[in-house]
Amino acid sequence: MKKIGVLTSGGDSPGMNAAVRAVVRTAAYYGIQVVGIQRGYDGLIENDFIEFHSGSVANILQRGGTILKSMRSEGFRSFEGRQKAFENIKNAGIEGLVVIGGDGTFTGANIFINEFNFPIIGLPGTIDNDLVGTDYTIGYDTALNTVIDAVDKIRDTAESHNRLFVVEVMGKDAGFIALRAGVGCGAAAILYPESEEDQLKELILRMNAEGRRKKLSNIVIVAEGAKEGDAQTVGKVLKNECPGYDIRVVVLGHIQRGGSPSCMERVRASQMGFEAVNSLKDGRSGEMVGVINDKISYTPFSKAIKNQEKIDTNLLKMIDILSI
Ligand code: F6P
Repeated sequence: MKKIGVLTSGGDSPGMNAAVRAVVRTAAYYGIQVVGIQRGYDGLIENDFIEFHSGSVANILQRGGTILKSMRSEGFRSFEGRQKAFENIKNAGIEGLVVIGGDGTFTGANIFINEFNFPIIGLPGTIDNDLVGTDYTIGYDTALNTVIDAVDKIRDTAESHNRLFVVEVMGKDAGFIALRAGVGCGAAAILYPESEEDQLKELILRMNAEGRRKKLSNIVIVAEGAKEGDAQTVGKVLKNECPGYDIRVVVLGHIQRGGSPSCMERVRASQMGFEAVNSLKDGRSGEMVGVINDKISYTPFSKAIKNQEKIDTNLLKMIDILSI
């Protein structure tokens, strides 16, 4: 293998740059040239390539966002778009690709492999942690730290005014950010999409229960995909049903996607980027590199995107007890 390409696609996440750096430097070690593809799959279609060398990725390990830019490509959804991408790849002499992104990225990669029999390895880059085959996606840990940092600040003002804050966090249709951040910030309750219970009803009963300890502040975390609705909707219901509480709503939004990656993020992204090049060299394709129990793992794209990871219900039970 003489030349490979690397791209970032979908929602950006802290640690993507660390992964790109690891890909470029590992490839350089083996004498493999790396082409940086800009703006995800759109860059493939539009021939938006940059020749990388080791120095091109200097001083990016600690930077949030992605130097390659990212997007969800419409063009790559059509066969014509993918064919154009394939022609550009061939003309550039690229023999394998590393794609860093989430379920949409791997879905596109899978179709491309089936149509053109072209080697692709994926790295899990999303704050949502909603991929099967890795304990942590690149960006998840930093996003969690951003959430708890923000909620700690909210907690200060909540305590001063004896308020209940409903805080909405990202995660698309998965509750991983909500659950972990909820434990980390001592939330009174968490509303998450995977729940089969009537979470809001239970929360109202709990908040209004006679003899409930009068707390100086309460934090309710709502995952953006919760069935009960967004934080504004939940806030409105709580204002009606829990008249004893002074309630405010905060939507954290895209601050969760930015910022300098945590140390764990940098380490995992580096390991995964390193491994992606090794696996392309070894002739692997159609798999996502992940980390399970601190060991590198490989999962076929078709399985990685299934979103079947079970929410840890033990953590949920624990939250109920610890927030009494
Ligand atoms: O997948 C990452 C994510 O941040 C989700 O948590 C969220 O639902 C979505 O992307 C937001 O996308 P956009 O940046 O297009 O608004």
